[in-house]
Amino acid sequence: MRKKERVCLSVEQMPTSWYNVKADLPFAMDPPMDPETQQPMGPEKLSRIFPMGLLEQEVSINREIPIPEEVFREYVVYRPTPLIRASGLEEYLDTPARIYFKNESISPAGSHKVNTALAQAFFNAREGVQKLVTETGAGQWGSALAYAGQKFGMEVRAYMVRTSYDSKPLRRKMIELFGGSVIPSPSPETQSGRHILSQAPDSPGSLGIAISEAVEIAMNSKDANYALGSVLDHVLLHQTIIGQETRVQLSIIEEQPDILIACVGGGSNFGGFAFPFIPDRIEKDRLQIIAVEPNACPTLTQGEYRYDYGDTEHLTPMLRMYTLGSEFIPPPIHAGGLRYHGASPIVSRLVKEGLVEAEAYDQTDILTAAKIFTMCEGIIPAPESSHAIQSAIVHAKKCAKNREEKVIVFNLSGHGLMDLNSYDHIERLNHQEVLAGERK
Ligand SMILES: Cc1ncc(COP(=O)(O)O)c(C=O)c1O
Repeated sequence: MRKKERVCLSVEQMPTSWYNVKADLPFAMDPPMDPETQQPMGPEKLSRIFPMGLLEQEVSINREIPIPEEVFREYVVYRPTPLIRASGLEEYLDTPARIYFKNESISPAGSHKVNTALAQAFFNAREGVQKLVTETGAGQWGSALAYAGQKFGMEVRAYMVRTSYDSKPLRRKMIELFGGSVIPSPSPETQSGRHILSQAPDSPGSLGIAISEAVEIAMNSKDANYALGSVLDHVLLHQTIIGQETRVQLSIIEEQPDILIACVGGGSNFGGFAFPFIPDRIEKDRLQIIAVEPNACPTLTQGEYRYDYGDTEHLTPMLRMYTLGSEFIPPPIHAGGLRYHGASPIVSRLVKEGLVEAEAYDQTDILTAAKIFTMCEGIIPAPESSHAIQSAIVHAKKCAKNREEKVIVFNLSGHGLMDLNSYDHIERLNHQEVLAGERK
């Protein structure tokens, strides 16, 4: 029987700064472009929708950015999160690999998103902003921001992608219980929403459309700012608490990772988990860092690397990133948080430079991975996180075949307790496909 390990840190062992990977990158990042002038865009222009505290972080190249005491105090409600050895999964796969996962699902909203939500709510509140407007895919980000907003006395309004609004009513309720309000997107409330609805009245929505709606409301409002759940550098920065804790936890048990894995929607849980290991990757070729996405929205594996808008209606600055095109509306898969046409510029560049590899999997494989993990480890993963689990399973099976004792570490970005009907739906779809195949 394998050893079940659970590596917990004390609050005193928690990092007190966020880690800014830009200080260690062997290349300079391309600046965001102003869509009006097609020239590099400075932070001043964005101060209409973001607080200066966050814009300073966006452009900073300091390696360490201190976590304010007020945010640290809220982190302690659920942090440090444990690193757990998935010995049940190892036994099931009969692999010599040692598999660990960082459990971000234990946050109040059930995912890593709370790590940046608290920081963003704090910096906005400090500058007197009273209201935050945002987009949300599967509802994880919306619920995280509603939770954080309530901690810092702010009102939160979330434009939720229509397909998730319909399929995840419990997540919608959760946002409301945390004091936020939810509007299905595309909505008739905004010009952006009305434009999409005039072309496609039954549009399932997308993160790109929901971002347009939220940005439009924030730009036209005196007391509201916009908050983004992923993609931008300051969002990924706040998530680096995950990877920094993981590094300390691995060193306590004297393990060196061979393969690090996380899923990618806009790139925030991936960046937060992987960036603190990028200096190790630059030093050692043998460390594999893998970003996983759905086949249905294959931004990193099939997208083009170029400047593109962050939203469908072209209200945001242009970012140099892998993109499927800002008009791309992904099929309504159940990993709603991975339905984004672009990806973080830093994550994109790391893939472009070969420091990070990208993989894509099918919804059917993801369901199987989620079931195996649930049986073996007793945690029902979010469909998004199941992409990382699927990759960990594929690599652990390779280790079994080649008799390699690799150390595989993945980020469990969230739980799937609000996604049970999505799993039910995928299962029924698969069953129908099998029946149709048998009939042929
Ligand atoms: C549980 C979970 N994991 C991952 C993601 C993907 O987002 P990101 O790439 O920003 O981590 C989401 C997005 O909503 C999510 O809810």
